[in-house]
Amino acid sequence: MQSFPAVDPIPLPAPIWLIKLLHIVTLALHFVAVEMLLGGLLIAVVLSLFRNSPQSQVTARAVAKRLTVVMTFVINLGVPPLLFAQVLYGRALYTSSVLIGVYWISIIAVLTLTYWLLYQFTARLEAGKSAWWVGLSAWLLSGYIARMLSTNMTLMLRPEVWRDMYSSSAMGLYLPPTDPTLTPRWLLMMAGGLFIGGLWLVYLAGRSTFTADEKSFVAGLGGKLAAAFGIVYLAAGIWAARVQPDAVKAGLSTHPLYHFASFAGYGWMVLVVVAILAAAFAGFGKIGANWLGWVAATLALLIELTLVIFRDAVRDLSLLVKGFDVWDRTVVTNWGVVGLFLVLFVGGLGVVGWLISVVARAQKPMEGAVL
Ligand code: HEM
Repeated sequence: MQSFPAVDPIPLPAPIWLIKLLHIVTLALHFVAVEMLLGGLLIAVVLSLFRNSPQSQVTARAVAKRLTVVMTFVINLGVPPLLFAQVLYGRALYTSSVLIGVYWISIIAVLTLTYWLLYQFTARLEAGKSAWWVGLSAWLLSGYIARMLSTNMTLMLRPEVWRDMYSSSAMGLYLPPTDPTLTPRWLLMMAGGLFIGGLWLVYLAGRSTFTADEKSFVAGLGGKLAAAFGIVYLAAGIWAARVQPDAVKAGLSTHPLYHFASFAGYGWMVLVVVAILAAAFAGFGKIGANWLGWVAATLALLIELTLVIFRDAVRDLSLLVKGFDVWDRTVVTNWGVVGLFLVLFVGGLGVVGWLISVVARAQKPMEGAVL
């Protein structure tokens, strides 16, 4: 029985490879921002809870005040991949979104509340008040959003459960039946938070707004966290790959790009972990965290990029087994519109780059300064 809704008779206005490329690049950027939020927030919460040194308080404040900005990137970099995913996988993604409609739509309200809590967290830290419970609430809500996104992204791959779910409730009231791939997939993203969050601290340690003592605290903490959670991230990635159905695993090991993506993703990670570990034990303050921070940032982006390709492969292979071939669409390219889009896209990136450079050049107070 055909479970997927009929394909939209309007052809795609751009080549599938181009939409896929844009989807992968923008989703990797979304993931970097998501991981910074999930990891940075938890780090700031723990530091603000224990308050065992002036450096830990300065670090908690420095990370917290950047999280509201990170959240804007999470949201704005989430919109493009959502649009591209809907174009390519709409028949599966719309169906799964409707089936868990109440939970899916709840993301908007939860996201708004999380954003507000982030501002409260920062304000309370700045005022020297107890703030960890506010930050922890924001982190738990972010974890809920992540869980719902993982739930939807796995439900879209399971047309066999759609009919029963819809029969149980047409109101989107129920979550899907258990799926062995869901929890490893979600935990992979959650573990990535402390890995990327650690790398973010290594990057931050290069800022001139920290004193020498603070720099070595921030870099040392970040390096150790990245090293430890790099291994957890790696283990979660292997777990998430191993629970895939046999047909998906077979496709992953035979297709050259997918094979490369999984190897490169994990390979890069191991390299970063080893490098960061070595640097952490050598003492970041002495070797200068500035260049190391840039290396960490570049590798973080490459790691997320390769993992997004790997994840994309899991989706395409899972759907193919169920009779949905993402490449099987009528394409009538409107090159004028594609050209205009690309010009605006590159222009938009240029404007964002310029904004970041203005912020980078602005004179900033020391992180430890009491405002
Ligand atoms: C606190 C806020 C957010 C968190 C923690 C978060 C986290 C995540 C996570 C964990 C995934 C991976 C799910 C999986 O495949 O297992 C994901 C995917 C995704 N997120 Fe976000 N997200 C957030 C906000 C947003 C927003 C506001 C948007 C859009 C406006 C968005 C768009 C997407 C899309 C489109 C995907 C999957 C795309 C695909 O598979 O093709 N996210 N997000």
